[in-house]
Amino acid sequence: MTRRDDDSGDNDTTSGPGPIVDPRDTDPFGAFKAAQKQRWASFVAFEMLTTPVAARLVRFVGVAPGQRWLDVACGTGVVAVTAARQGACVTGLDLTPDLLVRAREHAAIGGVSIDWHEGDVEALPFGDGTFDVVVSEFGHIFAPRPAVALAEMLRVLRRGGTIAFASWPPELFMGRMFALAAQYQPPPDPAPAPPAAWGDPAIVRERLGEAVQDVGFDRGRMHTPALSPAHYRIRAEQTSAAIARLVETLAATDPDRLDRFRRDYDALTAEYFGGNVVRQDFLLTRATKR
Ligand SMILES: C[S@@+](CC[C@H](N)C(=O)[O-])C[C@H]1O[C@@H](n2cnc3c(N)ncnc32)[C@H](O)[C@@H]1O
Repeated sequence: MTRRDDDSGDNDTTSGPGPIVDPRDTDPFGAFKAAQKQRWASFVAFEMLTTPVAARLVRFVGVAPGQRWLDVACGTGVVAVTAARQGACVTGLDLTPDLLVRAREHAAIGGVSIDWHEGDVEALPFGDGTFDVVVSEFGHIFAPRPAVALAEMLRVLRRGGTIAFASWPPELFMGRMFALAAQYQPPPDPAPAPPAAWGDPAIVRERLGEAVQDVGFDRGRMHTPALSPAHYRIRAEQTSAAIARLVETLAATDPDRLDRFRRDYDALTAEYFGGNVVRQDFLLTRATKR
């Protein structure tokens, strides 16, 4: 595994016990994560959009009855519940307690039992090799330090187990939207790694490195209903952590710049809008831990 995104010091923990970062005293992104925890609470509004992708990701991995799955950054539990309904023994972890409340409701409605944890993908509260499968749907990509998050996901995965995740390619809608938003705000200090880098197969291969074998990719498309690009943007302003933060900041400091951002956002969305849906293409990655 490369260390190019990791500024945390020793990250060779694939065989050592416990999390590699103690967020209580060493995490330079503690304030960033505290803010994320607040803002992601509004993601409930998107849960039904990611539900079909969850089915796709679970099928991409394949469930064997009794397999121990970890859904990292599980949000409202769409992947966790999907895998559990197919016979997996599932644990879900997320930073945002409000989303876990909803995840518990989904598990109860779906008639499955899941072990839910509030926590950080960069400091997983599980022992080495606990799981047969570790997955994340548009989740671990938001960890500020990819190398730390990946080392943790691999640490808790047994040898021969499967790691798999869904991510947004940088050159397509969501990746371009992240880049647009980044243009309109000064980078936080310290700066988190860009989430869309996880959507580039070359970067994914480099990050996974020698820790895995049999790396495979697939692609798919999520459709988000909207009446117009402006409708889509207004919903994003209300429900997307990154966009909500940006709009709040620009509204307070530079309303003209906020108007320009909104125009640019609508123009970008228009490129992917048609038939009252916005096309959001994603990448799936799957690999086996050596
Ligand atoms: C786009 S949502 C995806 C949720 C869910 N996996 C789905 O597909 O519907 C991103 C999720 O990542 C979670 N998240 C962000 N940073 C995290 C971190 N450092 N550790 C754990 N979860 C995190 C958020 O709380 C949120 O639930």
